[in-house]
Amino acid sequence: RTHRIASIPGDGIGVDVTVEARKVLDRAGQRHGFTLEWTEFDWSCERYARTGAMMPEDGVERLSAFDGIFLGAVGFPGVPDHVSLWGLLIPVRRAFSQYVNLRPVRLLPGVTSALAGRSAEELEMVIVRENSEGEYSTIGGRHNTGRPDEFVLQESVFTRVGVERIIRYAFQVAGSRSGRVCSATKSNGLVHSMPYWDEIFAEVAAEYPDIHSEQCHVDALAARMVQQPDRLDVVVGSNLFGDILSDLAAAVTGGLGMAPSGNINPPGEYPSMFEAVHGSAPDIAGKGIANPVAQVLAGAMMLEHLGERDAARTVETAVSDVLAERAVVTPDLGGSATTSELGSEIAAALG
Ligand code: NAI
Ligand code: MG
Repeated sequence: RTHRIASIPGDGIGVDVTVEARKVLDRAGQRHGFTLEWTEFDWSCERYARTGAMMPEDGVERLSAFDGIFLGAVGFPGVPDHVSLWGLLIPVRRAFSQYVNLRPVRLLPGVTSALAGRSAEELEMVIVRENSEGEYSTIGGRHNTGRPDEFVLQESVFTRVGVERIIRYAFQVAGSRSGRVCSATKSNGLVHSMPYWDEIFAEVAAEYPDIHSEQCHVDALAARMVQQPDRLDVVVGSNLFGDILSDLAAAVTGGLGMAPSGNINPPGEYPSMFEAVHGSAPDIAGKGIANPVAQVLAGAMMLEHLGERDAARTVETAVSDVLAERAVVTPDLGGSATTSELGSEIAAALG
């Protein structure tokens, strides 16, 4: 079997961690009898700085031929962050209807949580973030520029189709896990969008009587994630709420260096895109000390999505084993190994 993968390492540590993840995934392919056929694209903020575009005009079209997209991270000092977001990530997510951003978080052996005394079972969660609409919208603008009554409007878009499908996805995920879903809302402050979200949540919840559902204001939910994480399993949120909660969830389970994510088109009509939650980390770029685990685990999610379930499990086990040993870990985990030493160690653990 061959899977055709578009690799977009991007900028900064995105490049370092993608190299390591490919090493691990190729090894998993050898062990499990499939080949990953990689095609690499230099689309990045660095390219933007050189050419004025993150990707060529037909970029999205070129990606459509692949079975999966493997993204490092984009972001480069001097290039505004909205350029990378709107010049690459959002066009890809939207063109391929990757309306689910799935972010599983778990505390792995040997890794210390920011929450002292919490066990792995208590910190096992998955954040299901809406990834195609909501608060991340270009609708709005600046008015009365330069006058004392200057103001900006920033609109959110919540469609029935969009809200319903992400909530339904969360219930399906819950069905294969703990059977619990918590929806992030803020209907006391956002008086149009969130009551609508809550209404659709209640409708979908009624179709899944066996699944325990509840909703929680996003501010209280953030506090709960820190104080009582054991009471959460599947958390579903809008684009903005899901974005914030998933970084928080990553932080409580060992930091950004550990957190993978998938931008998923559930029907599989279009390629899905897998990446680490973290960015290009300019503060440590080029030093060879970035933790490659998040990117490796993003690779495991990609394998799972491609139907290579056994290989995905093998990669996850190899990561757990290496971290539990604690002999070869990067500085963010309290060790002194380099990115490539940890990558090679995980690849070797695959046998
Ligand atoms: P960041 O995730 O790049 O870094 C935040 C902090 O975590 C830094 O101190 C960094 O050194 C540390 N860190 C992150 N990943 C790590 C790893 N694998 N190993 C060890 N330490 C790690 O977020 P920041 O600094 O806010 O953004 C930097 C750039 O990345 C910006 O240009 C931003 O727009 C971009 N970015 C891109 C994303 C993407 O491509 N999807 C996502 C988030 C940010
Ligand atoms: Mg984020």
